Parts: sequence; structure tokens; C-alpha cells
Amino acid sequence: MVIIREARRSDRREVAEFTSRTWKWGDYIMSVWDQWISDEKGKLLVAEEGGKVIGLMRLAIRPEGEAYLAGARVHPDFRRRGVATALTKKCIEYARSMGAKFVSLATSSKNLPAISLVEKLGFTLAQEMIKVDAWPKKSAEPSGVRIMRAEEAREAIKWVKSRMKCRPVKFRFFEWSTLRLEDLVKYSEEGFAAVHGRIDGIALYQLYSTQNMYLMVDFLIGDEGASKELGLFLRKEASFFNCKGVWGYVTSDKGLISGLKKAGFRIKKEGMRIYEMKL
Ligand SMILES: CC(C)(COP(=O)(O)OP(=O)(O)OC[C@H]1O[C@@H](n2cnc3c(N)ncnc32)[C@H](O)[C@@H]1OP(=O)(O)O)[C@@H](O)C(=O)NCCC(=O)NCCS
Repeated sequence: MVIIREARRSDRREVAEFTSRTWKWGDYIMSVWDQWISDEKGKLLVAEEGGKVIGLMRLAIRPEGEAYLAGARVHPDFRRRGVATALTKKCIEYARSMGAKFVSLATSSKNLPAISLVEKLGFTLAQEMIKVDAWPKKSAEPSGVRIMRAEEAREAIKWVKSRMKCRPVKFRFFEWSTLRLEDLVKYSEEGFAAVHGRIDGIALYQLYSTQNMYLMVDFLIGDEGASKELGLFLRKEASFFNCKGVWGYVTSDKGLISGLKKAGFRIKKEGMRIYEMKL
């Protein structure tokens, strides 16, 4: 019988054993384990059968009634037996009891098992994000782009909300969350928020490294002209910071994609799907 319970520190090795080969390149679970297990606002759940840990799922609780599911993993020998379904249902139950109004999650547009799982559970597709990437470009000459000042954050978030038909979401190390005023303040204070013109385009980014340094686009919005200039700016920044490349996910907006193409970005086939469920 499968038991769903909160993760313990002693589960780490067994989780490492079945997650070490999740994808060709491995998995990121071990890099976030300490942070996930000590997150007092959320929950880290495991599925156990016969004393063996066979599944994992994280529930994150964000401000204003937002819940987020991440890290759905089931041991390859125990798949198609309802383990992920049981973990998801338990997370949803916790989210509800913690006062969440909706729960969201993200999955690759190519991950058919995950897509089929969440649609079966009643999640609906909220938006599709498109993966883009580019090489650094030292000689890029973006025009009208500057680093945003923290004092502009309030106006910037107002502009973002008026421009977007769907919930603005930002990326941060494999998790997506609603873009809020506090995020814009933080990115601009840290010097990683770029704005085009008065405010008709915004890019939030960060540096991250595995074996190589990359510039990761956490959020980008703007019409064709603004996106092109922001794209060029990001390529220049990538060169300045000695990155191997720039990549990220952007909302599937025609003008935005066309602007990034003009800035030399490639549009990848695999994207991300954001699913939501009202609680
Ligand atoms: C996706 C994953 C978590 C599903 O776990 P699971 O315990 O096998 O899922 P369940 O048994 O609860 O499946 C419930 C439903 O999801 C769908 N589903 C699950 N795996 C599927 C597959 N390989 N192909 C098609 N549909 C699938 C089916 O509709 C299934 O219902 P059914 O078995 O009655 O047809 C598991 O395959 C896994 O760990 N994959 C690798 C990591 C991953 O991709 N995680 C998701 C990242 S967002």
C-alpha cells in the first residue's frame, strides 16, 4: 500500500537513487532538496511503499493565495500505478487547507505523461511559454534600453498588468510564479531589470552556471520594437558577463517573438505549459 507522508532528511539518499536518471542530463532535485525540505511555508511530500521511497512532490505556497506544484517524480519501476495522482491530490488538499485560491504548475510541452496526468486531474492550460536562445554578442547596439530604477517598479508592474491578457509569470530555477511588485523592486535593486523607452518593454534576468555561465531570461515583455532592443541588450549583457549563451521562456506573443527573432534569437520547438486549477 502506498503511503503519502512528509519528507524526512533521511529520505534524501533514496530520492537521489530514483531521481539520478530522470532525464538524460540527470535531475535538479538534489540541488534544491535542502531548500525544499526546510521551506516552512510549503510541503515536501514523498510516497512510500513497503518502507521504500518511490515518489516525490513539492508544494510551494506563495503570497495572495497562490500555490505551486513542482518536482513530481515517481520511481520508474512504480509508474502508472497512481502514485503521482495520490501525491498531487494530497498536495492540493494541503494547499486548500492553507488557504490557497489556486494551484499552478509548469511542464514541458513535450512531457506527454505529465500533460496527460495533470489534464486528467482537472488542471487547465493557462498559457504556453516559448523557449528562446541566442549567442552573446559583444558588438550589439541596443537603443533605448536602460537598467530600471527601483522607483519605477510600481509604474512598471501597472504597465505589465495592462499589457498582458494572462497572469504575468516569471521563472526562477525551474519554478514559475506570478510576477509581483516586490520582484520588480528586487531585480531593479540588484541591477538585473532592463526597461525599454519610457516603459514599453521589460526584461528581468539573472546569471546562473552549471559547467558554464548562462544568462537566463526570467521575464520579458514588449512589442516587436522593444523586444528586439531588449533582445540585443541581453545578448550584449551575456557577452559582458562572459556567458556561453542567453536562454529563457517567453510568453507566446507574436510581436514579442518577431522582435526577438530580429535580435538574433532562435525559437525552440520545446516550450513550457503553465497549468492551473481553481481551489
Ligand atoms: C509523470 C510522472 C510523475 C507520472 O507518475 P505516475 O505515478 O506514473 O502517474 P499516475 O500513475 O498517477 O498516472 C495518472 C495518469 O497520468 C497519465 N500518465 C501517466 N504516465 C503516462 C505515460 N507514460 N503516458 C501517458 N499517460 C500517462 C495517465 O492518464 C494516467 O492514468 P492511467 O494510468 O489510468 O492511464 C512519472 O512518469 C515521472 O516521474 N516521470 C519523470 C519525471 C517527470 O516527467 N515529472 C513531471 C515533471 S512536470
